[in-house]
Amino acid sequence: MRKIWQGRFSKETDKLVEEFTSSISFDARLYKYDIQGSIAHAKMLAKCRIISSKEAQKIISGLKQIQKEIESGKFEFKLEREDIHSNIEISLIEKIGEVGKKLHTARSRNDQVILDLRLFLREEIENILNLIQGLQKVFLSRAEEDLEVIFPAYTHLQQAQPISLAHYWLAQITALERDEERLRKTYQQVNVLPLGACALAGTSFPIDRKLVAEELNFPAISTNSLDTVAERDFVIDFLANTSLLMLHLSRLAEDLILWSTTEFGLVELDDAFCTGSSIMPQKKNPDVLELIRGKTARVYGHLISLLTLLKGLPFTYNRDLQEDKIPLFETVEIVKKSLLIYTRILPSLQLKKERIEKVLTESFMTMPDVCDYLTKQGIPFRESYQICGEIVKYCLFKKIFLKDLSLKEFKSFHPYFKEDVLEVVKPEKSVQAKKSAGGTGLTEIRKVIRRYKKRWEKNKN
Ligand code: ARG
Repeated sequence: MRKIWQGRFSKETDKLVEEFTSSISFDARLYKYDIQGSIAHAKMLAKCRIISSKEAQKIISGLKQIQKEIESGKFEFKLEREDIHSNIEISLIEKIGEVGKKLHTARSRNDQVILDLRLFLREEIENILNLIQGLQKVFLSRAEEDLEVIFPAYTHLQQAQPISLAHYWLAQITALERDEERLRKTYQQVNVLPLGACALAGTSFPIDRKLVAEELNFPAISTNSLDTVAERDFVIDFLANTSLLMLHLSRLAEDLILWSTTEFGLVELDDAFCTGSSIMPQKKNPDVLELIRGKTARVYGHLISLLTLLKGLPFTYNRDLQEDKIPLFETVEIVKKSLLIYTRILPSLQLKKERIEKVLTESFMTMPDVCDYLTKQGIPFRESYQICGEIVKYCLFKKIFLKDLSLKEFKSFHPYFKEDVLEVVKPEKSVQAKKSAGGTGLTEIRKVIRRYKKRWEKNKN
């Protein structure tokens, strides 16, 4: 048998058409799920007495053999057999004969392909969730390590205020927590059995969808057969949520790239995660991070591609839907690799402490602390702000930094300035002074670290 649908046709398919319509080059990776689904389907057909249990056994052992052949590289995927579903079905028939022709009873490739996708995505979301957790743990150990590293933070890419570097790492964990939560919701959407919708209308055979659901560990079965074969919301949901995840990873890449430039000079990326230039011998480029940023664009493209693919499709299944796979598969690969790369890059990231110290002290980053100093003594905030603005102007004119101001000079701006203001301007004091929940104060950060540690230890058991 060349094709599962050859009966109605009296001519061979044009070669170019075969090539154009075939999806086996990319959907072969669904083989495991396709076989798993077919085994569950065959078992159900037997239990419902649609086929005999002997027939089911033959089918199941044939399918298992095919799986072994695929995994040992012996199976020959054929382009003219279109996709993974018919490649497996035709070779099953070749292997076990007539009885193999019974497998597709009360089923269609339309619900079969969605089942495969859902099984695939269920597994991959779990993999991604594990990778997210792994990365969060890397951030947490960096946070513990860098708790007392005072680091410049920016708004508008201009020097803003000193923070504990741990606060930055914890910010990454926080964003990943939301990503994790969103993906868990996606998982719930994915975790619905589509099989039994058949081509679009259900079936006249007395199938038991709940049985298949139990066998494949689906807590729910889809409720409308038209919707089941027409929709790909779960794929779009996954692409939307991974787009956000990639957005987070991409912004992190951008920060690390900037911090590692000669101009910023705050961190040094490990040689193992950089590449060189073909013409400029001095160069060490952050290509890996740039590619995370670059591949984020691809993931966004995949999301847009799926949204566009679906928006004008008449109900229900159309072959256009075959185009959902490459974007989905590629996104899964990009997301997994990007997460994994970060778990390797971050522990090896070196801090350039002298440079960090210089950036912090040769600046005005603790000016807001001076402002608070006056305000705490009863001067209205806006007035303190005005006075501090004058101080900055004065320093800029004299070409000095905040740390260079003497007490006498401070006093010339306001009599409330006392000796202790010379402490207030120190970056570490600025960080230590922060008290608010969610801020960069060390007590607060320690609390957050403890909370994460506790939660993850609990999850382990
Ligand atoms: N390869 C197809 C896809 O990925 C499977 C479903 C084909 N169904 C059909 N009626 N042609 O969408």
